[in-house]
Amino acid sequence: MVPKSQVLTVICILCRLARLKAHENQKSSRLTVSNLNKGQNINNFSNPDAVRSLEKVVDSNTQFSTNGTICTKESSDHVHFYLYTADNPLKGFEILVGDTDKLNESLFRIQAPIKILIHGFGSGCNHIYPKKLKDAYLETNTELNVILVDWSLLAEPPLYEQAVKNTGVVAVKTANLALFLISENATTIDKVHIIGHSLGAHVSGIVGQKLEEKLGQKPSRITGLDPAKPLYNFSRLDRRLDKSDADFVDVIHTSVLGLFRTVGTVDFYPNDGINQPGCFPFDLACSHSRAHEFFTDSVYESKKYKACKCFRKLGSKISLSFLNNCHCDESDEKTFVFMGDAVSTSARGIFYLATDDRQQQDTETLQTVVNQNV
Ligand SMILES: *[C@@H]1O[C@H](CO)[C@@H](O)[C@H](O)[C@H]1NC(C)=O
Ligand SMILES: *[C@@H]1O[C@H](CO)[C@@H](O)[C@H](O)[C@H]1NC(C)=O
Ligand SMILES: *[C@@H]1O[C@H](CO)[C@@H](O)[C@H](O)[C@H]1NC(C)=O
Ligand SMILES: *[C@@H]1O[C@H](CO)[C@@H](O)[C@H](O)[C@H]1NC(C)=O
Ligand SMILES: *[C@@H]1O[C@H](CO)[C@@H](O)[C@H](O)[C@H]1NC(C)=O
Repeated sequence: MVPKSQVLTVICILCRLARLKAHENQKSSRLTVSNLNKGQNINNFSNPDAVRSLEKVVDSNTQFSTNGTICTKESSDHVHFYLYTADNPLKGFEILVGDTDKLNESLFRIQAPIKILIHGFGSGCNHIYPKKLKDAYLETNTELNVILVDWSLLAEPPLYEQAVKNTGVVAVKTANLALFLISENATTIDKVHIIGHSLGAHVSGIVGQKLEEKLGQKPSRITGLDPAKPLYNFSRLDRRLDKSDADFVDVIHTSVLGLFRTVGTVDFYPNDGINQPGCFPFDLACSHSRAHEFFTDSVYESKKYKACKCFRKLGSKISLSFLNNCHCDESDEKTFVFMGDAVSTSARGIFYLATDDRQQQDTETLQTVVNQNV
């Protein structure tokens, strides 16, 4: 008789082959979608005409779907949710929406706070973000549910534009996960904190909108870590992160790959929000990753990043020069706040801080885009 473990191995290999095959099919169908832009190098962000025409595509009604029609059936199955708890910090337990038995089997902590972590373009669950942040949470707090959203197959380079279009589908799936947990009485919406890096920040915003549509209530908090900028010149708030997506939205701006404009209840601009100390001036991905590195640091050390309030004339546009007018007044608590996980949710407005060099950890996210342009 063949040992059970060998049978399982064979089944697993077959599974994987089947998934790869499904993935190939999906790739070819995605390419069909991209053929809309025939003859253009879709990822050439140094070509202003190409960028503008892409923004139009992303901004138009027909090309952006939240119901899965733009993706193949398989591709909307390419969103997975992995639960980690202090009892199970290493190997995520996959939660299937609608599967009560599986949820029961998982080590989900009923009514404990939930951190939902969403990666960006060219990333995945085993990348520095979200992995290090997950570790930080579980090492410092035993009463947490950390859920990693894996949409890596829908966020694969070089098809950045397709990844942008997929954000809607990923958000709907993630909102459905939260609705499932709520309907099982495993949690309530005020316990949900969603944290997204880069494109994942925009996914988070759309999740917040979808939850509000369904429940009439927003998640308590969304954190946007350098929300992606390429193609996000469109005005539609329903396709990007903004301050109306949760009761409290905190945003950390660290690079030109992220939006410079304010999009949160509170917006932090460490080191002016463009070039981070310790990153080479043209290493955009290095500065882009600082946002999640700062945030992860703050989980271990809540008062590491003290930020000072910036003042501007009413109606003036946010610009670098205006970031010169920021100061902390020790006698006025409204003038400073700690950036990161433990941020005061009563904070409002724009804050600046300077940081020291920081060891570079991760330059993977958006790396492909960067390679093609620098
Ligand atoms: C990108 O666009 C710029 C400006 O139109 C052009 O000079 C450059 O050759 C293009 N690069 C690639 C890789 O297509
Ligand atoms: C999905 O969205 C598209 C475009 O927004 C719409 O035309 C289509 O009818 C929708 N399909 C379903 C099943 O809701
Ligand atoms: C799981 O199911 C068992 C048996 O039905 C029940 O006693 C237990 O409370 C359930 N646990 C959770 C977390 O729902
Ligand atoms: C959740 O709680 C409500 C109110 O106590 C109850 O009516 C409902 O049956 C519960 N649902 C589940 C799935 O346990
Ligand atoms: C952004 O969109 C506005 C309005 O469509 C346009 O005037 C502006 O030039 C665009 N900015 C960039 C950088 O393309």
